[in-house]
Amino acid sequence: EPLEVGILGVPMDLGSSRRGTDMGPSAIRYARLTDALRQVGHRVRDLGNLEVPVAESLDAGNPRLKHIEAIEPVWRLLADRVARLAGEGRVPLVLGGDHSLAVGTIGGLLAAGWDDLGVLWFDAHADFNDPATTPSGNVHGMPVACIVGHGTPELLAHTRWLPRYLPARRLVMIGLRDVDPGEREKLRRSGIVTYTMQQIDELGIAEVTRRALQHLDGEGVRRLYVSFDVDVVDPDVAPGVGTPVVGGLTYRESHLAMEIVAESGLLAGMEVVEVNPIRDVLNRTAEVAVALIASAFGKRIL
Ligand code: ARG
Ligand code: MN
Ligand code: MN
Ligand code: MN
Repeated sequence: EPLEVGILGVPMDLGSSRRGTDMGPSAIRYARLTDALRQVGHRVRDLGNLEVPVAESLDAGNPRLKHIEAIEPVWRLLADRVARLAGEGRVPLVLGGDHSLAVGTIGGLLAAGWDDLGVLWFDAHADFNDPATTPSGNVHGMPVACIVGHGTPELLAHTRWLPRYLPARRLVMIGLRDVDPGEREKLRRSGIVTYTMQQIDELGIAEVTRRALQHLDGEGVRRLYVSFDVDVVDPDVAPGVGTPVVGGLTYRESHLAMEIVAESGLLAGMEVVEVNPIRDVLNRTAEVAVALIASAFGKRIL
């Protein structure tokens, strides 16, 4: 049935050392996002972009937690906006921007009182670092640690505005293939369910996506948020990302996953992050992003 979709852009690249994801929201809009959603039958309102500080105007500060003093206020603003959208019965669709923004989106849904929330995290990376394990100091490698509350006190000090943490068992990662040594041990002990590329190769993406949904259902999840880092898709298909990793999902695998998400009937919000137009080829990655969003929101071939 038709949804009321609210689009919010977050032109932020402060969480990444490679510049350019701040242009992601424009690139995705140029690829005709609203038309694609309206064709599926949804009502769409584009609420524009959040105001985000420009990296050149700032000092990165703590080298193990770069730009955190500028990122935290963006999280809080984003959480307010997302909570308001959710409160109005709209389905938030957030365009990134680097993946650190997920702390704001998911924090906003928790603030809106969504206690039946579960998250499917599509990503080549675990984004489960903290200042003690990070190889880069980039906050886009840390959002999951913030969301489930597993990180050093220095990191979690910047999440005190969160009403609560998401239980780790309500987040499932799909597409992992680049996990840092310090993340690996933390991840094993966390309770987060993970599906690596190896498991996708062995089981198929349909079975993996269904198992992920079944697990979340068993945890009481009735509302699903999809956090989609486009670097989960193979860089041959989606080259315009900040941190490409070979061996990713094919075009069809990523669509099938979104089609199964749509079939679940549980989709209550989505973000598409890490689109980097500077590294893209003729906006191809943003076009892939729009096609994937349409599939997740119910577009069918016939
Ligand atoms: N694991 C690496 C780091 O922490 C890369 C993280 C990439 N994250 C992303 N959202 N693209 O620096
Ligand atoms: Mn601080
Ligand atoms: Mn990510
Ligand atoms: Mn990633």
